[in-house]
Amino acid sequence: MTTSTETNTRVLLRSRPVGEPTADDFEIVREPVPQPAAGEVLVRTSYLSLDPYMRGRMSAAESYAAPTGLGEVMPAGTVGEVVDSRDPSLEVGDVVLAYGGWQAYAAVPARQVRKLDPALAPVSTALGVLGMPGFTAYAGLTVLGRPQPGETVVVAAATGPVGATVGQLAKIHGARAVGIAGGPEKVAHLEELGFDAAIDHRAADFTEQLAAATPDGIDVYFENVGGAVWDAVLPRLNLYARVPVCGLVAHYNETEAPAGPDRSAALMRHVLNKSLTIRGFIQTEFVPEHHDRFLAEMGRWVTEGDVGYREDIVDGLENAPEAFIGLLKGRNFGKLIIRL
Ligand SMILES: NC(=O)c1ccc[n+]([C@@H]2O[C@H](COP(=O)([O-])OP(=O)(O)OC[C@H]3O[C@@H](n4cnc5c(N)ncnc54)[C@H](OP(=O)(O)O)[C@@H]3O)[C@@H](O)[C@H]2O)c1
Repeated sequence: MTTSTETNTRVLLRSRPVGEPTADDFEIVREPVPQPAAGEVLVRTSYLSLDPYMRGRMSAAESYAAPTGLGEVMPAGTVGEVVDSRDPSLEVGDVVLAYGGWQAYAAVPARQVRKLDPALAPVSTALGVLGMPGFTAYAGLTVLGRPQPGETVVVAAATGPVGATVGQLAKIHGARAVGIAGGPEKVAHLEELGFDAAIDHRAADFTEQLAAATPDGIDVYFENVGGAVWDAVLPRLNLYARVPVCGLVAHYNETEAPAGPDRSAALMRHVLNKSLTIRGFIQTEFVPEHHDRFLAEMGRWVTEGDVGYREDIVDGLENAPEAFIGLLKGRNFGKLIIRL
């Protein structure tokens, strides 16, 4: 139970960013702690996930999900403790995964939360390798990428929770994993994770490095970023290559189409000549069929050490806006999480 003196710190969307978000696009408020209604639980947030998709929610542009309204709390997956329960399925003290948003307390329907077992893995992993980003990597790579032994899989944003998992799963499937990341420290981490090759997209000779790292071409390119990385990858795709399009983080802050000639005809020539499969997806599409298997398999790989993960933990809800702004520029190193 909470006491009447406690307040709920919340981060609201104040304005829709034009280009890069700024701290002024967010507003931090203190309000009374909500009371759960029948069928709800009150969850006190311990960890909150910051993810690139939130940039889309800040925008009113048409997307796969409705925008967050101005004055509404920013959306987020959260891990927290049940402090009040009005549903028989959950008790005070249970640790749960919820969609609580950027706030210290959330009253949420009990049927929308999943109870976690803290003995199985650190509960913060439910926001990363054992949560939505890990599942995105798992489903996108296995269902759409379908890597075969000996094939070459390339992924960028490779030290993040999606990319790092893609590369390690590619290895489990017997493929060669090539990771792309920003800066030497991140590149060194990819080598520690067991990637066969790691390259820095900020290096002046990035295109040459990519060619050297993919002597047999690329069979699966797991698209997380777009931009200059995609330009370098496209000519190296092999016949029948698969491109699961998971995200385009290099473009999320763009305000207009990139300069230069329209290159869509050249792209379609590659699609035709190489019989490419380019397939966008949102991970929720695969939840009904694949999520239970993901939890079982990934839970085992993580606990047995076959899949490693790195978290970038920032303390304090008031630091969430700056941390999120940095995520879109590569300032995070691993799964970005706010600890309350
Ligand atoms: N389709 C879905 O259902 C779904 C679900 C979850 C995530 N996603 C997408 O998956 C991608 C990765 O997500 P994540 O949570 O794992 O993020 P993340 O890797 O933790 O963070 C984003 C990373 O993108 C890289 N980046 C930013 N701008 C870049 C640029 N111009 N060129 C190359 N890299 C750039 C940065 O890493 P470096 O410093 O290494 O460049 C940054 O750390 C995102 O595009 C996200 O939107 C999609």
